[in-house]
Amino acid sequence: MTRRVPRLWELRLLPRRPELDPVKRAHTVSDLRAAARKRAPKAVFEYLDGGSDGEITLHRNRSAYDRVEFHPRVLVGGEADTATAILGQPASLPLVLAPTGYTRMMHPDGEPAVARAATAAGIPYVLSTMGTTAPEVLRCDNLWFQLYVWDDRGFTKELIDRARGCGALVLTVDTPVPGNRIRDAHNRLSLPPRHGPATFLDFGSRNFARDLKWSDLAWLRETWSGPLVVKGIQGVADAVRAADFGADAIVLSNHGGRQLDRSPPPWTSCPPSPTPWVPASTFSSTAASGPAATSPPPSPSAPKPASSGVLTCTA
Ligand SMILES: Cc1cc2nc3c(=O)[nH]c(=O)nc-3n(C[C@H](O)[C@H](O)[C@H](O)COP(=O)(O)O)c2cc1C
Repeated sequence: MTRRVPRLWELRLLPRRPELDPVKRAHTVSDLRAAARKRAPKAVFEYLDGGSDGEITLHRNRSAYDRVEFHPRVLVGGEADTATAILGQPASLPLVLAPTGYTRMMHPDGEPAVARAATAAGIPYVLSTMGTTAPEVLRCDNLWFQLYVWDDRGFTKELIDRARGCGALVLTVDTPVPGNRIRDAHNRLSLPPRHGPATFLDFGSRNFARDLKWSDLAWLRETWSGPLVVKGIQGVADAVRAADFGADAIVLSNHGGRQLDRSPPPWTSCPPSPTPWVPASTFSSTAASGPAATSPPPSPSAPKPASSGVLTCTA
């Protein structure tokens, strides 16, 4: 064997400097999850990762996603175009970034980082009532606001007023009582955190309304003139009812398996539709006869339905 200086093309075959940033190194959501597990305190990671009770719904959600199939059509040429409109606003993808409470507990950059990512991707972002950045200061091209209704409706109204600049109001309806999060209990996680980031809202001794009713949706419809979304609908009857009460869209959701365990994965609670149902979908109500005619009539205090009808997937 003769010794010689390596040729340039041989050097190119040597392994490159390893990427140290775990986010840049990640290729999949599972990679990101593994990185978060390593870096975040255990209680914080498990708050983010966990579901309620036996986590049966959490696991069923994952297997429901695994069962999703794409049926491609071939030989159609051209570029794929994912651009669409969501609640009348252009979006580069049929996706909305969901609200998460205590975002700064997960990462010190918190909501501003998520808002930057949403703006860069050209999609809406929903700021949570339990957010750690105030709606008035958050910069995002298409910011929506997620509302938890409080036992003190006057305080709820003040909150809605603070969100007036947002592109949509998203009422979460699947949290009349907090989910029973066993992992948080084991970790003795107290929310709001005793040491750590506070929410932008000083809610004092107030609690989420346990008596939330359709009449509250009617009240919201009168109070908020922009697009109104109901998040946490889990069946066709309630979807139709939400439309009857003036909702512009619903989010079919079981809160990621964090609330009522054994509730069904979102789209399995929908009947087969000629239009494919899309996960985390937004729906718009389209005038049609059918299920609406058989749904229970709105209460006398409810506003006249803008359009009663079936809900079809638009995303
Ligand atoms: C850490 C964490 C915090 C969340 N906080 C909120 C919240 O403050 N408000 C809310 O409506 N949903 C909250 N959610 C639920 C999500 O918005 C969303 O519903 C869930 O991740 C499942 O997605 P899906 O609704 O698209 O199925 C939270 C979820 C996680 C993982």
